[in-house]
Formats: sequence, C-alpha cells, structure tokens
Amino acid sequence: MPINQFKSEVKNRVIANGKNNELKKSAANFLKESSDAMYSYNFSWMGRPIIQYPQDMVAVQELIWQVKPDLIIEAGIAHGGSLILSASFLALLDYEDAVRNGEVLDPLKPRRKVLGVDIDIREHNKKAIQEHMLYSRIDMIEGSSIEEGTIHQVVEYAKEFDKIMLFLDSNHTHEHVLGELNAYAGLVSKGSYCVVFDTAVEDFPAEAFPHRNWGPGNNPKTAVWEYLKAHPEYMIDKEIENKIQITVAPDGYLKKVSE
Ligand SMILES: C[S@@+](CC[C@H](N)C(=O)[O-])C[C@H]1O[C@@H](n2cnc3c(N)ncnc32)[C@H](O)[C@@H]1O
Repeated sequence: MPINQFKSEVKNRVIANGKNNELKKSAANFLKESSDAMYSYNFSWMGRPIIQYPQDMVAVQELIWQVKPDLIIEAGIAHGGSLILSASFLALLDYEDAVRNGEVLDPLKPRRKVLGVDIDIREHNKKAIQEHMLYSRIDMIEGSSIEEGTIHQVVEYAKEFDKIMLFLDSNHTHEHVLGELNAYAGLVSKGSYCVVFDTAVEDFPAEAFPHRNWGPGNNPKTAVWEYLKAHPEYMIDKEIENKIQITVAPDGYLKKVSE
C-alpha cells in the first residue's frame, strides 16, 4: 500500500476511534483500574524507572520525531526515566543529522539537550543519571520550577536553542501548573508542543487521591483550561489522545500554533 494511502487510512481511523464511545469507555476504565494498580510505576527507559504510560511514551516519540527539537525542558525528574527517554530520542536526531550530513558524531558533544528541573533530586537518582551513557546531553537544576531563581536559570539556558519542547510533570496542583505554564510555555517554539501530564486527574473520582493536594477541580487540566483562555497561540491537539486513547494527558497535548 502506498504510504500516503496508509497515512490517510490512519488519519481516518483515528477520527473514527475518537468517536467510538465503547472504545473510549474501556480506555477510561483501564485508566482508572490501572491507576489504582499503580501501573505507571511498572516501566523503565534504558535502565531508569519512568513514571509514565507506554501510550504516552509512544506519543512523545512521534512528537519528537515530527518537531525535531534541540532542547526539551522537563519539570519533574523523579528517577530520571523521562529525562533518559527524551535524551535517547534527541541522540537519534543528532545521529540522523550526522548520517544525512556525512559527519562523524561525537556522543560526548551533543547538539541537542534535555534540561530537567526538580525540587528534590535524590542523591541516588542524581548519581544514576550522571552515570548513564546519555548524561552528556542532560543538565539538571534543583529547585522549585515556579521559583524566580529557577525560572531565570531555565530562561537563560534556553537562549542557546532554536526549537524547544516542554514537558510538565511535577507538582500537579492547579496553581503550580498554571505557574509553570506562565513561566515556560512562552519558550516553546511555534509548531512544537507543551505536554502537560496528569491532566487525567480531573476525570477521576475525588476519593482517588486521598493523600494528595490535587484532585478534580484542582489539577493540571484545570490549569491548562485557565491558561488557554488567555493564550490562543496554543491549541489542544485532540488527534493525539484520539489515537492513543489511554493517556494521563487528556487536553494536555498542547500545540503552539502561532507566536
Ligand atoms: C511524577 S514525578 C516525575 C516523573 C518523571 N517525569 C517520569 O516520567 O519519570 C514528579 C516529580 O516532581 C517533583 N516536584 C514536586 N514538586 C515540585 C516543584 N515544586 N518543582 C519541581 N519539581 C517538583 C517531585 O520531586 C517528583 O520528582
């Protein structure tokens, strides 16, 4: 089958999947049951634990390949799995450039980078990230992502880069995520994405998060909705969630469509 026909079939199927209420209902059931079962803690990426769903990891891979960013900024490091995932895809983009340009690649002098921010980078996690083969393309800042000093460091760091992507996965309260969006979403390049994780909290029953200071009405999704009221340069890319169905980021895949 010619590739254009294949792509058009995928597009049409994704639209149909997005209207398939039985499929959506079973995906929502799976999300609820798997969240209770702490399924998102089951995975690792190149040796580091990553707290994500596989479907979101695949969506992120498609976005990185499509946008080809030279910087990914991440709020929320934990064990470092998502930093390593981003670094691994950026390494392959540098590899692609080298192949196409007939250049020799020096893995210790990467062009593309990942910048991670976390309020508490545990010593054992920091050490394991520093010992990872992909560490040369990772930098980390310890501090709250909404503190002025942290924001300043991130903004300065970002000045060296042309195409920026942003992943927000730290504290999941409305106020915090809105603060992060106000601080960093402006850095994202036109055509690139800001992905806000755990927007799915809005769709869970209130009793699902007994030990958290977020829940329905106060979470990343409510922050996204608030932010979008004043930021028409962003649109929610519904195609991604229609495609993957199971996602912790419904209404969280934000595409920057204008400056
Ligand atoms: C869900 S985990 C991140 C998971 C990681 N992105 C992954 O996919 O493996 C959330 C992280 O956010 C961090 N965090 C909590 N409050 C924060 C804040 N105010 N600023 C920055 N990071 C924060 C926590 O220390 C924790 O490591």
